Amino acid sequence: MLDNTPIEATDPELAAVLDDELARQRDTLTLIASENYASPAVMEAQGSVLTNKYAEGYPGKRYYAGCEQIDRIETLAIDRAKELWGAEHVNVQPHSGSQANMAAYLAVIDPGDTILSLDLTHGGHLSHGHHMNFAGQVYDVEHYEVDPDSGYIDYDALVEQAEAVDPDIVVSGFSAYPREVEWERVQEAADAADAIHLADMAHITGLVAAGVHESPVGVADIVTGSTHKSIRAGRGGIILCKEEYADAIDSAVIPGTQGGPLIHNIAGKAVGFKEALTDEFTAYAEQIVDNAAAMAETFTDHGIDLVSGGTDTHLVLADLRPSHPDTTGKDVEKALESVGIVMNANTVPGETRSAFNPSGIRVGTPGVTTRGFDTAASAELAGVICEVVDAPEDEATLAAASETVDEFCTEYPLYEDV
Ligand SMILES: Cc1ncc(COP(=O)(O)O)c(C=O)c1O
Repeated sequence: MLDNTPIEATDPELAAVLDDELARQRDTLTLIASENYASPAVMEAQGSVLTNKYAEGYPGKRYYAGCEQIDRIETLAIDRAKELWGAEHVNVQPHSGSQANMAAYLAVIDPGDTILSLDLTHGGHLSHGHHMNFAGQVYDVEHYEVDPDSGYIDYDALVEQAEAVDPDIVVSGFSAYPREVEWERVQEAADAADAIHLADMAHITGLVAAGVHESPVGVADIVTGSTHKSIRAGRGGIILCKEEYADAIDSAVIPGTQGGPLIHNIAGKAVGFKEALTDEFTAYAEQIVDNAAAMAETFTDHGIDLVSGGTDTHLVLADLRPSHPDTTGKDVEKALESVGIVMNANTVPGETRSAFNPSGIRVGTPGVTTRGFDTAASAELAGVICEVVDAPEDEATLAAASETVDEFCTEYPLYEDV
């Protein structure tokens, strides 16, 4: 895994790049809300002999021979997921969160049917029906928005919109929404239209597993997620659903949208889910949320406007326009990257610039919390960000920020024993 010796022997060029990437991850801090650091055990599973095996089908019902061990692995992943999220049925085969959503749509709606989902610039995701995404091309899409004043979802307005639009599926769960999602209220909207409720918990999969965020399981008909964001189970997707949708979901994954499952990644999921079933993981998830709150407080004290005024989750979305009208999110992203803080520019509700050069920044704490950050360290890091936001081109500011990042990386090391 972190031993590149076999790669060095075959492909020194690629081995050198891998070494550089390991150094980059060690020497910078990720505040990308959807990123995290998987454990060496998860990465070992993902880089194992399992990459060699074809296993189309499901445990006990495969289209290929030699799947005895594969069945054991997939069953472990499924059983652990059921324990983590309390779902009636679990499919661990989606290659990613986006493909989990694709399979969910295929399972329960038809081309031309209507999706009601949050607008991308208000915190939604491409796979919720953006016009460039397959979902936007195959289905009719209507969007809801967050309340322009509060930054919160207006659930009463969502129910009214659902009654007016009469969607076939209502999508909840978001990429850049800092507040707790009230799944029951979204369910009211779905019920008002007699629609399916798809809850995409991609970002908060780990928070839900740890009980730090209310669970959509048992409320929504179908729940999808990614396995590499706030849970550290390696890159992939997952679908959880009520038993009545089990057959439709399974056949929408294969043969509907995928072929052979990535068993090496399913093994990574099994290991990551086992790690998440511990008290240590619950404490980790609580710390993620506390750290995000500490960062939010620092930004607010500095006069930076936060969408919804704060956070209940792992992420903070700042709108730079009121306090720094001439500074774009991209300016800040680039300046921070130059000092070793990796985060992303983001659109904000009521965006007046472009998606590529938007007015906001999004920071998330799953990664730094894995490195061991507490609230004091998170607040200090937010203070560094504030200084860079104030003077993104000032060399002395950038030099001081870079020094602080180096100190953080030394104090909170990554992959040091492997
Ligand atoms: C809400 C939401 N759904 C789906 C996805 C897609 O996940 P993946 O990158 O695993 O396809 C994301 C990614 O950030 C997301 O934020």
